[in-house]
Order: sequence, then structure tokens, then C-alpha cells
Amino acid sequence: MPGLIPQDIIDRILDANDIAEIISGYIPLKRAGRNFKALCPFHHEKTPSFTVSPDRQIYHCFGCGAGGNVFSFLMKYERMEFPEAVEMLAKKVGISIPKTEPADKNAGIAEKLFSINELASKFYHDILFNSKEAGSVRAYLEKRGISSETAKKFRLGFAPDKWDALINYLRQKNFSLSLIDKTGLISSREDSSGYYDRFRDRIIFPIFDIKDRIVGFGARVTNDTLPKYINSPETPIYVKGKNLFGLNFTKDEIRKHDSVVVVEGYLDFIIPYQAGIHNIVASLGTALTIEQIRIIKRYTQNAIILFDPDLAGELATLRSLDLFLSLDMNVRLVSLPKGFDPDSFVRDKGADKLKELIEDAVDLFDYKLDLLKEKYDIIKAQGKAKIAEEMLATISKIKNEVLKESYLKKLSEILSVKEDALLKELSKVKDGISYIDYDSFSSLASKPLNIRVVEKMVVKLMLEHDDLIRQVKEKLDISDFQDPHIKKIVCSMLELNSQGRKIEASRLMNHFDDQAVAQTLTHLCLSEECREIDKQKAFDDCINRIKQENIKEKRNQLHGEIKIAESQGNKDRLNQLMKEYNCLIKK
Ligand code: UTP
Ligand code: MN
Repeated sequence: MPGLIPQDIIDRILDANDIAEIISGYIPLKRAGRNFKALCPFHHEKTPSFTVSPDRQIYHCFGCGAGGNVFSFLMKYERMEFPEAVEMLAKKVGISIPKTEPADKNAGIAEKLFSINELASKFYHDILFNSKEAGSVRAYLEKRGISSETAKKFRLGFAPDKWDALINYLRQKNFSLSLIDKTGLISSREDSSGYYDRFRDRIIFPIFDIKDRIVGFGARVTNDTLPKYINSPETPIYVKGKNLFGLNFTKDEIRKHDSVVVVEGYLDFIIPYQAGIHNIVASLGTALTIEQIRIIKRYTQNAIILFDPDLAGELATLRSLDLFLSLDMNVRLVSLPKGFDPDSFVRDKGADKLKELIEDAVDLFDYKLDLLKEKYDIIKAQGKAKIAEEMLATISKIKNEVLKESYLKKLSEILSVKEDALLKELSKVKDGISYIDYDSFSSLASKPLNIRVVEKMVVKLMLEHDDLIRQVKEKLDISDFQDPHIKKIVCSMLELNSQGRKIEASRLMNHFDDQAVAQTLTHLCLSEECREIDKQKAFDDCINRIKQENIKEKRNQLHGEIKIAESQGNKDRLNQLMKEYNCLIKK
């Protein structure tokens, strides 16, 4: 979570606040040994699995996986942005946050890029509304049912059919070409003899972030030329898959309705919005990313997906929706009649009809099942197996155990397969072990233990003993770790350690953009203590285990390559591979 607030101030604010005190201001906490327990405020439960550790200054819910430090608690509970949470806690303890010029170079640049985008947007908007040449464009928008109020609200514009209209305008305002280039509004010629406007003869749709700042643009032709849309490239202020089109306009309505309608295109957002459907966002044509879903979840747990009819029929598209379940959200789907998208449906049938369809949206589980029943023969064993496999992949993502069980039951009835059999299959779907099994850890040498568990063990030990961080630095390489979360955690620990900073889980947390990494960390910290008395021995065992595992993997990989080289009769390659193999065996 990079920000403009200096790290040492953030650390001071963290140290001065007590997580147990803050959280107990929101929910009642009960003492349980060194920790506190409570019913989790982030998911529905009957027995408390929400744990707050005053020692570590972190919280973790063993039911839904939520976890973090006091900042992340406020962000999640109060739906605050990181800087807001920091400010609130700073005030509470009387620490003032210095309003210095951004030390971060990129932050300075970001401000400039926003202001260039703002100017460009005004430029395009003015042309759309006031120029003669845009007369036909205004007519086009009217033909598509976009009122001029709507065009103004979303600040639509028009980029004229010239190579240098915007460049000249921005140059007049004294921005350097290299800075303008960073906005993606211009492109450099192939022979690098200069720049030209990226968007020409196109309708402009500004893309806003949640704070109403313009991060990029989409641009549509007014005829049948291809590509239909071109969009801003990624820039320091525009990272695709990290924001949702329109959310700045609709976030309050989404919260109020406690549901969000997710569509794909610019106009699939604008036309329904104009017709009164205000709890809506657009993904802009890409599969939703986990980041986007996390953003949505700050406002509601309930999503209704309106995809193109042909896309909603694709298993791959449906699989991408499992991500919602893994974040404990409810997903329902609407399939529009063939040939319609939300825009054309509203224009043709009216917003009320769309609202009806939204009301009747079908749960992802049922939707997927129907699709699978069409695809595979539910009577035949093969068909059943195929359907079970696909459905179990979805069910395995469901966090709520009660819900999970009721879906399993339903699936077992529909397939006429015993629930036990499905349960067995389900256990195969799960990735790794989610809880650390410390009992088996003490007999590490004899029992084969999941590699992820060993890696987690190392991190847990590193957190307890600074000296072990140094040892990891000496004995292992980041690439020796396999688990992507663990990799990130270890990386940050090593970095902080080499800067001579104190390593505490609650501080470490601030270094991860991805909440899932922080949650892995809180889980690790608050899961049961390691029973091994000799920590150094336990640590050495883990290191050896990781090394062995990696060698084994490398060996298998070489083995495979050798087989291929053999079958291709590639002698040189074979010789080389054999050499590598023998080398490895010696290790
Ligand atoms: P569609 O092809 O469904 O277009 O693409 P649309 O939104 O219905 O637009 P109209 O109604 O023809 O004007 C859906 C979304 O995919 C992205 C855009 O975000 C678009 O809104 N897209 C599509 C592109 O980025 N580039 C393209 O060439 C096409
Ligand atoms: Mn359309």
C-alpha cells in the first residue's frame, strides 16, 4: 500500500494505537487466553472464529480468512481507503501527518498526468458540444439514445480527425512531449520523428477512478471501421483490471441497493444508467479480476452479471465468476435474449423489463448446472463425472460451510450420486492444506508434509526470531519458495531486514497491495504455536525439506526433457541433459 505518508509515521501511528481497543469499539471482544475472540463481523457465523491478537497487533478470522492490522480492519469495516484509515488513527493519538511535497517521484507525476487528462477531456468535450465538425457526432449520440445531459454527466467528447489537434493544444499549455506521452494520449512515430494524437475521429469516454479523476480514455468510431474501440494504454495512473468504469458515479447507489449490476461495455453502462438503473458498473470487456471484485465488495456482497448472451454460454466465462465465491460474494446471472446487450435491450424493451430480468437473475450454481446439463449427458456415468468435476470446482470456492453443504446435497440429488462420493472428489479439488498441521511437523523427517506447510513454517519461525531471517538470506533464494504469497512475504521481510527495520507482522502487512497475502500472514501468525522445542532444528529441517523438494522437482523436470530428447533423437541435447541430471543426483 504505497502512499504519500512516510513509512516511519505510519509505523508510529500503528505503534500508538491498540488494535484490541479499536476493534472493541465496533464489536464486543471476549478474552481467550492471550487473544480476544468475537463473532466475525465480515461473515455470518454462530461460533466465534474471529481472533484479535494484542501481542501481534493483528486480527484473523479462521472462518472466512479475513485478516490484517488495525488499518486493514478499518478499511474493511468502515470501507475506508488506506490514507483515510491512517488519518483517523493518527488523529486519535495526536500524531500529525506532515503535508510535505510527495517524496515519491511517481506521485508527483501522477498529479501532472491527472491534470493533463483533465485538460484533454475538456478539450474533447468542448469540441463535441461546440464545434461544427462534431454535428454528425451529436446526431450519432442522439440516434443511440444518449441525451445531452447524459453526455455531459459522463463528460463524453469527440477527438477530431487530425493528427495533431490535442498535441498542439497541450503544447500551448506548456506540457513537455515526454510528459504528455506518459498519459498515453499520444503515440510516437515508428521512425521516432515525433508524436501524433492517439485518438482521432472518435467519440471519447473518459474513464474515472473512484475519486472522480480521469485515469484514461476509451474511444469509439462513429462508423463501422475497426477496431471499434481503442483505449488508453496502461500508464502510471491507469492499471487495467484495477478499476471499474462508472463506479465513481454509482458507488453510493450500489451500497444503498446492496447489489451491483455488472455489465461489459461503455454503452451497456450509460444507457441503463440513463434509464434509472444506478447500481451498475462496467468491466470494459475484460474478464473481471480479483482486484475488481475486491473493490466491488467494499460496497456490496451481491453481484448480478449481465454478460453478452454468447459469452454467458461459455464455461470459461462462468469459471471466472468463481472468483466472486472465493471472496464470499453472491453471484447471480442474467442471460439476455439472443442478439441483445444491456444497451440495446433497454432501448428496445425499456428499463423496467431489464429490472425484471435482474430480479429474476439465476444463482451461479443453477446457471452453471443448466449449462452443463445441456453440454453433457447427465444419464451416463461419464457425463455425471464431467458435470460433478465442473460443479465441484465452483462449490469448492464457497466459503460458507452451510451453503457449501446445501449445494453439495443438491448436486448429489441431481446427479443421483452419493454425497460421500462428491465429498471425496471435493477434497481433491482443494489446493493444499489450509491449516498448518503442527503435530505432523515435529516428525517432519519421517512424514511427507505438504511443501506449502513447510514454507509457511519457515515464515512463522522467521517472524519469531530475527536471526533466522539472516539464515534464510544465506541458505535460500527467493526462487526456492514455491508459494506466491510466501514469496512476497519473505521478499518483504528480507528487504526490511536489510534496511535494519524491525519486523513485526502488523507492520509488514502495509507492504502488500494484495490483501490475500496479508491474510496468509495473519493466518500464519495466529494459527497454533509450533510445538517443536528446538526452533533451530525445526528451521534446519524445513530448509532441507524445501531444498530436497526443489531438487526432486528439478529432477522430474529433467527426466521429462530427457524423454523428449530421446524420442526426438536429439543427441546433443540428450548429452547436455544427462550431464545436468548427473550433477543434480550428486547433490
Ligand atoms: P462490444 O463489442 O460489446 O461493444 O464490446 P459495445 O460496448 O456494445 O459498444 P456498441 O454498443 O457497439 O457501441 C464491449 C466492450 O469491450 C471493449 C469496450 O470496453 C466495449 O464497451 N472493447 C470492445 C474494446 O475495448 N475494443 C473493441 O474493439 C471492442
Ligand atoms: Mn452495444
